[in-house]
Amino acid sequence: MSKLKESTKITATEPVNLLGVMQPIAGDASFKNLLSMHQLEARDILDYINEAYAAEKLIRDRDSRGASILPHAVMKAVMRQPSTRTGGSCTTAMRKLGGAAELISGMSSSSEAKGETLADSWVAFATQSDILGIRTADDYGAMFAAQVIAQGYERGHLWQLVPVINLGDGRNEHPTQALGDLFTIHKKFKKFDGLTIVFVGDQARYRAHHSLMIGAYKMGMSITAVESPVAKVPQALVDFLGDKLTITDDLDAAMRRADVLYLGRNPDEYDGDDDAELERSQALARDYIQWIVDRQRLQQMSPDSMVLHPRPRRDELQTDVDTDKRMYDVQQMANMIPMRMAIIARHLGKSIINSTK
Ligand code: CP
Repeated sequence: MSKLKESTKITATEPVNLLGVMQPIAGDASFKNLLSMHQLEARDILDYINEAYAAEKLIRDRDSRGASILPHAVMKAVMRQPSTRTGGSCTTAMRKLGGAAELISGMSSSSEAKGETLADSWVAFATQSDILGIRTADDYGAMFAAQVIAQGYERGHLWQLVPVINLGDGRNEHPTQALGDLFTIHKKFKKFDGLTIVFVGDQARYRAHHSLMIGAYKMGMSITAVESPVAKVPQALVDFLGDKLTITDDLDAAMRRADVLYLGRNPDEYDGDDDAELERSQALARDYIQWIVDRQRLQQMSPDSMVLHPRPRRDELQTDVDTDKRMYDVQQMANMIPMRMAIIARHLGKSIINSTK
């Protein structure tokens, strides 16, 4: 265990399962970690979606605005990268379930400043929580946390195994975002099979794309990636998606065929400073300009299609689209609350559906 480091050299989207922390959910999420969409099969995704529908009903009841399903349970959302949506929606979700929640933003208040290791920090948070949400700049950061927590439990130092929910690990995955995205797609189309989803952006480093590609594949959707030569879909993901994946550089043709258009910003916080990175960064910035979607460009999409963006957005999605009825990106954000309620409840052994019958 001492050899584990937060930064690893594993290729993004390659499943890892050290200490068995990335168990298949297989119909029962109780006290398991949620680290990757690779843990889920279609029936698991539908379970989360059905729970999210029940959660949505609860929070839209103006008399109750939630329910006491997890009284006294505590969630900490530890966001080691900036976040407006994910951390806050997790704390809201936990409170709507009757539990308590704390958002820890950035690292400035961490005892790492006094020389504590990251591993020791995760164990400390585990002693204070019943469930931990974690965002890291490092690929596989949530897996690392889950491993040190599992080790603490195996040694008998922690009295309970605290589930770790990956709220975005570097350039790898963002599984709770993908589950909320799938919920949003299901709310509109009531199905997945036969739908085509088109992804636009940095296919190599945009984690929301990776998780949703895996989820869309599992739900039987066809996937198109509009790709830059300098920011390609990782080979492990290309191999996994097989003939469900089409790669193109023609955004307009892809938009005309899309049921769902999924945009993402340029994740340039991961840019390095050597010559190769500078070249990549300049080439990708030029591609993002070619990919800008505005109101006029949107008109070529089917009237029954939808546009999603996990936000934050930059120029790639112009604000003049905001009144178009194909835009579902604000509903997408709102849908994250019931979906994260579903995730928290299921990973703490509860069903919102069964608790509210
Ligand atoms: N979609 C998303 O992850 O947003 P934040 O970075 O604001 O959490």
